[in-house]
Amino acid sequence: MDHFHYRDRVLHCEDVPVPEIAAKFGTPVFIYSQATLLHHLKEIQTAFAAVKPIICYSIKANGNLSLARLMGQQGSGFDVTSGGEFYRALQAGPKDAKIVFAGVGKTDEEIEYALKNNVYLFDVESEEELHAIGAVAQRLGVKAAVALRVNPDLPPKTHIKTDTSVKGVKFGLDIETILEVASKVVNHPGLEVAGLHMHLGSPILSAAPYKMGGEKGVQLIRELRKQGHRVRVLNMGGGFGIHYRKQEALPASAFAEAIIPSVMEAECQLVLEPGRFIVGNSGILVSKVLFNKETGGKRYIIQDAAMNDLIRPTLYDSFHRIWPVSPGAEVPERPEDFEAEIAGTVPQDVVGPVCESGDYLAKMRNLPIVKRGDLLAVYSAGAYGMSMASNYNARCRAAEVLVSGREFRLIRRRETFADLVACEQDCLT
Ligand code: LLP
Repeated sequence: MDHFHYRDRVLHCEDVPVPEIAAKFGTPVFIYSQATLLHHLKEIQTAFAAVKPIICYSIKANGNLSLARLMGQQGSGFDVTSGGEFYRALQAGPKDAKIVFAGVGKTDEEIEYALKNNVYLFDVESEEELHAIGAVAQRLGVKAAVALRVNPDLPPKTHIKTDTSVKGVKFGLDIETILEVASKVVNHPGLEVAGLHMHLGSPILSAAPYKMGGEKGVQLIRELRKQGHRVRVLNMGGGFGIHYRKQEALPASAFAEAIIPSVMEAECQLVLEPGRFIVGNSGILVSKVLFNKETGGKRYIIQDAAMNDLIRPTLYDSFHRIWPVSPGAEVPERPEDFEAEIAGTVPQDVVGPVCESGDYLAKMRNLPIVKRGDLLAVYSAGAYGMSMASNYNARCRAAEVLVSGREFRLIRRRETFADLVACEQDCLT
């Protein structure tokens, strides 16, 4: 479900014509629908309501302050993975928002920053990290609440670069050794082993891994309690998939059905860390066609969004639907199936201006012939679009716009050339 739809062959975000936004703020531009965003948060809150979950929106998916603030206002906490993300979460508020801090490489400074700012839980990924957190906490005279992150060793479930619960990845503690690690910190003066954490990978289009993971989690929690740890939290991470190709994503209720029985059995507070599910289908990237080109027997649409704006296609071979913002009468207003043959289209690569052959948003995609100045919409770009954007090729990062009903406002201005050099010192002058 989203609020991007065509009216008289013009794409609208909620009630705003997309060309109006592009005319005002230029391209490339990320456009987010507030109603879509809130709908998806609500969907999770409702699906898991029976166990009163703590939902910690995963800032890494899209940390824009306005979006994060909206999440906070609706009762969400935050999942962060660096001091910088922690800072974003604090800026977004509210003051009592629960913040969980995951990630394999926390520095002592980040640990201290988190402890001083009332972190709800550290998700701990190695034995050395556990002791480092304990040491910092002791130095500060506090007890750090930690959830041990287990790698539950499940079968592959998503792209290898984002599967975090198969053997041999850098994440979490091995399921075979986690109990031994935990046994060494019973009664540690700086540590409270308050929970068990797992994040299986992302995006995941099946609920089965959550059921399997949850069941393994229940067993571990039992053992941890036998050791004397008062485990009260089960954090099942994020990873719920979204619609990229068609309507392939599961509803939140399917994940709830898989997870809730384990939460009840473990008698734990459930924490979830969804990012993509909330923001992914809430955003599009809009670009402008610069040139058409035919070379090597192929057609290219060269447009002004590039791998620095949306790296997912080249990094993960991911598929993002792309369609003109104002399609002509020779093609459907919006195709049913973007991977099927579509009348009035020809296969074309959609590429950007960056100097790499890997700079593409789509390959051999059935699209109509477009002309200079036409706008294209790249769908499902709300998660891991702007948050992974870079300045490669000294490209200014895009603007971000939030739409609500007939209103729209700039929530991040386009960078300027001056921004590109703002942190540098010219040591030769
Ligand atoms: N919790 C932890 C510990 C995570 O590592 C992640 C994502 C999440 C929660 C949120 O996952 P989500 O609900 O958004 O799926 N850049 C990749 C995705 C990397 C995900 C990293 N961790 C992509 O564009 O597909």
